[in-house]
Amino acid sequence: MPLPVYLETFGCQMNELDSELVTSQLRTLGYRFTPDADAAQVVLFNTCSVRELAEQKVWSRLGELAIRKVRQPALVVGVLGCMAEREGEALLKRMPVVDILVGPGELDKLPGLLDNAVRTRLSLAHDAPVVPAELEQIPTALKKSLVSAGQSALQGNTTRRSSTLAAAADSLEMLDLSRATAPEDHHGSAYVRITRGCNKFCTYCVVPYTRGAEVHRPPEHILDECKRLADAGVIEITLLGQTVNHYRFEHASAVSINGIVQPQKGRIYKANEELADAYAGERVTTFADLLKRIHDEVPAIKRLRFVTSYPRSFGNDVLQVIRESPRICRYLHVPAQSGSNRMLQAMNRGYTVEQYLEFLDRARQFLHQPEINRPLTLAGDIIVGFPGETEEDHEATKTLLRKARYKNCFIFKYSPRPGTTAYDKLADDVPDEVKRRRNNELLALQQQISDEVGKEIIGRTLQVFVQGISKRQAKVKSRAAGSGKVALTIGGRSAEMAGDHAPEQGGACSVNGSHITTEIAGDENGRNQPEIAQFEARTDGDLIVHFDAPAAESDHLVGSIIDISIQSVNGLSLTGRRA
Ligand code: SAH
Ligand code: SF4
Ligand code: F3S
Repeated sequence: MPLPVYLETFGCQMNELDSELVTSQLRTLGYRFTPDADAAQVVLFNTCSVRELAEQKVWSRLGELAIRKVRQPALVVGVLGCMAEREGEALLKRMPVVDILVGPGELDKLPGLLDNAVRTRLSLAHDAPVVPAELEQIPTALKKSLVSAGQSALQGNTTRRSSTLAAAADSLEMLDLSRATAPEDHHGSAYVRITRGCNKFCTYCVVPYTRGAEVHRPPEHILDECKRLADAGVIEITLLGQTVNHYRFEHASAVSINGIVQPQKGRIYKANEELADAYAGERVTTFADLLKRIHDEVPAIKRLRFVTSYPRSFGNDVLQVIRESPRICRYLHVPAQSGSNRMLQAMNRGYTVEQYLEFLDRARQFLHQPEINRPLTLAGDIIVGFPGETEEDHEATKTLLRKARYKNCFIFKYSPRPGTTAYDKLADDVPDEVKRRRNNELLALQQQISDEVGKEIIGRTLQVFVQGISKRQAKVKSRAAGSGKVALTIGGRSAEMAGDHAPEQGGACSVNGSHITTEIAGDENGRNQPEIAQFEARTDGDLIVHFDAPAAESDHLVGSIIDISIQSVNGLSLTGRRA
């Protein structure tokens, strides 16, 4: 009987992808996944450390599991991801309920650790006497037997040592390469990692510490993965990287171990591994080259997106490829973080407000082609209440929002993260009520801007990519009042919150791979009436569009690109009708 596993994911798209890879890895080893945490024998949390709130959620869930484990000693608890890496062994001390700890750079080690932990827990459970329900009634000796020995796989401070990086990246690369591509695993849409880690060290951010050094995956592997996903029915791919536009692979320094091209960090492999003859002397693959290759070589991918863009070094070569490629989305998530140069400097972002706005203008001009109805839309991130932020800095951020005119912007209250430069060197001196007020002011301003951006589109006809039946607003209408019963079931992973890097905030909704089954309705004269379903689609610029169409057309509509004339706007979603 396969062991039931419950896996819950916190954090960004990187984590969602990691969870998908872990799921397919464990499935092949005979584990089965359950959506019901209470029914699971293995509970895994894939965690995020980017803000304190993200970690608090996990601490409280672990507290609940500690109580449950008293009654269910065979329960295995695992903490994966950024929080495991950031907290390290201290997490095991604070929460002895945790059996395994696996950082994002060591996920390939999960099966071995899990297998060990399952055996240990089962043997402990077998020996343990029947325990009373209340924790406080349990004798200390027994409590100790319920506590785990806690095993971990963490990169720790080896993450930035080049000698260990090659080997670690090698096995991680295998994890990406071995991903499952069955239709039930992707529902038409998939993430593909192009770069791991981050080298930017923005002063507030834990990511360079939890995800390690920037490593670019070989383009051949990325292309192979895209092709395999496309062959399996994927039609939308989102490329992932913390500074995705900085992708760069130097072929001449690539090496091959056992036939696998290694992910690359500069030339660090040269010293300790063989050079790959196949790539010697070849050129560099830039982000623009990579985008073009995926677009041209995998035409079955109808929508190609990428997140998250870094405002600096975003070349015209990338904009040119977007302009020339009908299947690359005209959407940039390009966080500014602040509208004040003083704050940007303290954050170590490496650009000024003027340079940021110059980039937005450049991108808009490059992609301004009214004749093809594919306007560029932008999304951003802002941190409010960074140390030293004054009212003047805050006003400057409002000015930036007005100029940037994002379709949506994620606004976060600064959260000091242990281990970061800002935590060590800058006092968290903006009181929480001030952060909250500034946060609310920016949210209100952005709401107004989002409404305006939406209203500008009313009356226009846009090409939209039909993703499926809208789940949240699923409805079936029969044209004749009082007609027979209509049943609509929607399958697939749908209407999920997909806030870009915004675990605590709602973002855009996406509907993927829905299928419908209908009971055919009849009117009082026994004639069949076509059922109308609400479909969900997305523009190039990642705006959500709802429109009604006969449910029976679902087969040819879903996955296609059609023209929709936009009628109205409601929050972040537009409503339209087929043009
Ligand atoms: N690599 C991306 C961001 C990844 S983290 C980039 O540079 O744009 C996602 C977002 O979380 C960041 O854009 C930032 O707005 C926010 N964030 C990161 N650390 C934070 C902190 N300590 N407090 C509040 N927000 C933070
Ligand atoms: Fe964090 Fe900055 Fe790297 Fe983004 S670029 S992940 S904010 S350090
Ligand atoms: Fe969180 Fe790690 Fe992503 S800290 S935002 S899960 S990279």
